[in-house]
Amino acid sequence: MLKIVLLGSPGSGKGTQSAKLVEEYGVPQISTGDLLRSAVAAQSELGLKAKAAMDAGGLVADEIVVGMIRERLNEPDAEEGFILDGFPRTRAQAEELDELLTELDRPLQCVVHLQVEKEEIVHRLLARGRSDDSEETIRNRFAVFQEQTEPLAAYYEKRGLLKTVKGTGTVDEIFGRIKAAVDSV
Ligand code: AP5
Ligand code: MG
Repeated sequence: MLKIVLLGSPGSGKGTQSAKLVEEYGVPQISTGDLLRSAVAAQSELGLKAKAAMDAGGLVADEIVVGMIRERLNEPDAEEGFILDGFPRTRAQAEELDELLTELDRPLQCVVHLQVEKEEIVHRLLARGRSDDSEETIRNRFAVFQEQTEPLAAYYEKRGLLKTVKGTGTVDEIFGRIKAAVDSV
């Protein structure tokens, strides 16, 4: 059973490491970014609302992502655990998550904070080239991360849930560090 949040800047490797964690621990990855991109691709009402913020590298409204997470965590495969990738991203989302997990009686095991410096991020994302990986959007996503999301590290530190992991090196090296961190809880 694994019940964790992966906290980290754009391009810090949340998606890459989630895939390996899914394989190792058999719990689903729940990525608000992936869920939102599917909604945009399907041109659903939710997707249409989210698209402008995503294209600009800003955040989609809290009530939209919280609603998505509530629905997703209530699906049967998340009963035994989950890897939250890219959620929460604001203080309000973190508080909603606490409430939801208390309701579900599935408290967080820990929060893994993947730390990567900005130059490496820009390098990785320009090489990837997703539609929100232009230089200007990357810069904005990073600024939004520093302002709204990074403070959550202190929020979780206060509760004794934070595990900080160096997010540079090979994918396998980083995975080893994450495993050591989550297995120690
Ligand atoms: P989201 O999809 O979550 O994007 P992000 O947080 O910006 O992060 P990325 O997916 O770009 O990076 P990642 O950390 O997953 O890294 P990856 O493994 O891909 O969100 C997109 C947008 O949706 C947001 O901007 C926002 O608008 C909206 N949104 C999402 N969640 C929201 C929320 N909760 N509230 C409000 N709005 C929300 O790796 C990146 C690249 O690096 C890849 O090419 C990979 O191959 C490479 N790489 C990975 N590891 C390494 C390594 N060790 N060495 C070298 N390269 C590596
Ligand atoms: Mg991702």
